[in-house]
Amino acid sequence: MLTQDELKTLVGQAALQYVVPGEIVGVGTGSTVNKFIDALASMKDQIKGAVSSSVASTERLLALGIPVFDANEVGELSVYIDGADEIDGRGYMIKGGGAALTREKIVAAQSRRFVCIADESKLVQTLGKFPLPVEVIPMATQRLVRQFAALGGTAKVRMQGSEPLLTDNDQHILDVTGLQISEPLAFESEVNQWPGVVTVGVFAHQRAQVCLLGTASGVKTLNF
Ligand code: A5P
Repeated sequence: MLTQDELKTLVGQAALQYVVPGEIVGVGTGSTVNKFIDALASMKDQIKGAVSSSVASTERLLALGIPVFDANEVGELSVYIDGADEIDGRGYMIKGGGAALTREKIVAAQSRRFVCIADESKLVQTLGKFPLPVEVIPMATQRLVRQFAALGGTAKVRMQGSEPLLTDNDQHILDVTGLQISEPLAFESEVNQWPGVVTVGVFAHQRAQVCLLGTASGVKTLNF
């Protein structure tokens, strides 16, 4: 029986087959992506470098000698590799458990193909069991808490010690529980246009086209 950590290593290594030699790869954030970054070091001489979705991933890439480009310096990327907090059978995801959702969505939008790497605990029927992360402008927090309450959700500011956690963009995160997101495309469009929302952690418009799922019997490839 493989541990969750071993499953993450397996899918991180399996994602190398989607990296296009000679190109720049989009890199996500999180413990599963860390395994991918470690594996990517083995082919660093075959790629130009990476566009990163967080300070944490940038530091890890640079420490392994992989050049990191600003998203504005490069055009469309062929592939973006990232984890997820939940993924459903259509490739729709909840992301942002690591608070990097805004930059993740930016790099995903800049990429032709999103390859999600996840262990099988992340595969769900309906999104919403994992608390939905939403990056918000602090001034709007309490009004957004009420807007989520009107949808049946309970939103709480993510804390780091006694202070609200600050994202890489110096904003706050609301984690929303009690939602069943059965129409991810419509939900993402609606919440995105609430004033004060920077990014909602539903990735439906930027869904995955492929999921490499770590299971007890090995890596399963799901194409959406
Ligand atoms: C980071 O903000 C997230 O979107 C991650 O992609 C997600 O939380 C998955 O992280 P793990 O691979 O650590 O579970």
